[in-house]
Amino acid sequence: MIPFLLETERLALRQFHEEDLEAFLAYRNEPQVAKYQSWDIPYPREKAVKFIEEMKGKSHAVTDDWFQAAIVLKAGGEAIGDCAYIVKSEGNQSVIGYSLASKYWGKGYAAEALRRLLGYLFEERGVHRVIADTDAENVASWKTLERLGFRREAHFVESLWFKGNWASEYHYAMLEREWKLLKSG
Ligand SMILES: CC(C)(COP(=O)(O)OP(=O)(O)OC[C@H]1O[C@@H](n2cnc3c(N)ncnc32)[C@H](O)[C@@H]1OP(=O)(O)O)[C@@H](O)C(=O)NCCC(=O)NCCS
Repeated sequence: MIPFLLETERLALRQFHEEDLEAFLAYRNEPQVAKYQSWDIPYPREKAVKFIEEMKGKSHAVTDDWFQAAIVLKAGGEAIGDCAYIVKSEGNQSVIGYSLASKYWGKGYAAEALRRLLGYLFEERGVHRVIADTDAENVASWKTLERLGFRREAHFVESLWFKGNWASEYHYAMLEREWKLLKSG
């Protein structure tokens, strides 16, 4: 298996390693990171160990299953978050997800990492469309998507019973031809 590695100016998106455990566990347990995400806190150490064990041996070329990569600072090598994708063979579409430790918010790291991930998905995996869904209250998330050039395609109102409340969702997408246009412009 060829390990996953994508680079940007400041970041590397790479396969998870055991050394990422403490950083991963710390940000997974931050209430503000978990707030709109699928996991509950406290997020136990055993789950984190299992997660890293699974991801370190997983091929990034997988289809119809999630692959999750660590987002690492090139300077120092610290894992500051992760991004995830699934490439669905039916319809040749991808869904992405992402998280950063809160001390790294507001520095443009999410947009930098996701722009590189989009390049991989459109140019190396040849997907037709990339989708991202976000809680309508998760302003930092949908603004990041809009900064990248995603289109808001839907606003589902109170469509999900989530962590004890009704949540509304924004659905965003980008087509391969839109990616090419963005790159050329
Ligand atoms: C989503 C996430 C990765 C964004 O990363 P980030 O690098 O910190 O994003 P930024 O701080 O640059 O914020 C993006 C934009 O939202 C704006 N923003 C952030 N918080 C905001 C708030 N509470 N109200 C209004 N605007 C806000 C920023 O000003 C910025 O705007 P700009 O693009 O016009 O400059 C990060 O917030 C995160 O990890 N959140 C927890 C996990 C999560 O919810 N993931 C997404 C699940 S769909």
